[in-house]
Amino acid sequence: MRKIKMGIVGLGRLGMEHARNIAFNIPNAELIAVCSALQEEVDKVQAEWGIPYGYLTYEDMIQNKELEAVAIVSPSPLHVQHIKAGLEAGLHVFTDKPLGVTIEECREAEKAVEAHPDQVFMLGFMRRYDPSYAYAKKLIDEGKIGRPYMAKFASLDPEVNVQGAIKFAPTSGGIFIDMAVHDIDLARWFLEGEVEEVYAMGGAFVHPEFAEFGDSDNACAMMRFDNNSMALFHAGRDAAHGYHVETEIIGEKGSLRIAAEPRKNLCTIFDNTGVVNECSQNFQERFAEAYLLEMREFIDCILEKRQPDITVYDGTKDTEVAFAATKSLKEKAIVKL
Ligand SMILES: NC(=O)c1ccc[n+]([C@@H]2O[C@H](COP(=O)([O-])OP(=O)(O)OC[C@H]3O[C@@H](n4cnc5c(N)ncnc54)[C@H](O)[C@@H]3O)[C@@H](O)[C@H]2O)c1
Repeated sequence: MRKIKMGIVGLGRLGMEHARNIAFNIPNAELIAVCSALQEEVDKVQAEWGIPYGYLTYEDMIQNKELEAVAIVSPSPLHVQHIKAGLEAGLHVFTDKPLGVTIEECREAEKAVEAHPDQVFMLGFMRRYDPSYAYAKKLIDEGKIGRPYMAKFASLDPEVNVQGAIKFAPTSGGIFIDMAVHDIDLARWFLEGEVEEVYAMGGAFVHPEFAEFGDSDNACAMMRFDNNSMALFHAGRDAAHGYHVETEIIGEKGSLRIAAEPRKNLCTIFDNTGVVNECSQNFQERFAEAYLLEMREFIDCILEKRQPDITVYDGTKDTEVAFAATKSLKEKAIVKL
């Protein structure tokens, strides 16, 4: 069986999920190289999983001539420089979201992808690969709810993880770019339109630390699309009950809800507190299958010499819209795109 030899940069919260999938859960992939700025992360993965090559810099890793593809899970401000260098080294490139943290960077990524049309480029908006979201898209495409004209999103991180979010705040790009960008991507995908105007508001209502970085712990946005549809977004970082990602899509003939109750699984507890459905606690748990399926798609694209449906241009559009929402929040005004 042909196995694509892969390297990964970033062995943090998400990098380890991708690394584990590449190393153990995708028969057509082989993890041969790992890279992190932290020596102990590299040493641990190499020792425990028997990975032959370990690096402290990405630039060193991509010189490894055995590599065919790379997964970029480094901090967001490094994505575009890592994308460009990876493509220039002749590698197929998977990068996690966001594409870049400025529009100029996203355009640079577009040029790099256009200059290497024979190499696969994939952007990791994993929610599109989550079985429930993929099923909802299929139903919409089949006309089950008629023309969708409204989408509502809630993406709420758990309060128990808020210290991590505060640490991440200086480089995250803000709540719309860091969190709501997933929902912005889904809104464009489900509604099949582009955003025309945005109004947003938010604040550091619970954790004033976010205000120090000009960020919010909760923010909302309303967007009008160019095809007579609209979307509403709420991103928050202090959900008491866990990791809550919920979506509703309303069409002319019906509506769909995904994870209206963000259940951990199908087990209901009946005890002296009442009847309890536990909630997912983090993104790794809720989207485990989506992370695996998106990485499988990347490997399949390489083997089948095709490009994934999601493009570099989606990454730019999603970032543009997230920036417009950030601008609207700061300026307290409607922003037109
Ligand atoms: N798709 C999703 O649901 C999702 C979820 C979480 C994070 N992300 C994205 O994944 C990326 C990583 O996030 P994270 O939460 O795993 O971050 P993290 O801080 O937990 O990990 C970052 C990793 O990158 C390494 N690193 C930092 N600078 C480096 C450098 N110069 N060279 C090589 N390695 C370097 C660190 O050592 C660490 O291993 C971010 O862009 C984030 O937006 C996406």
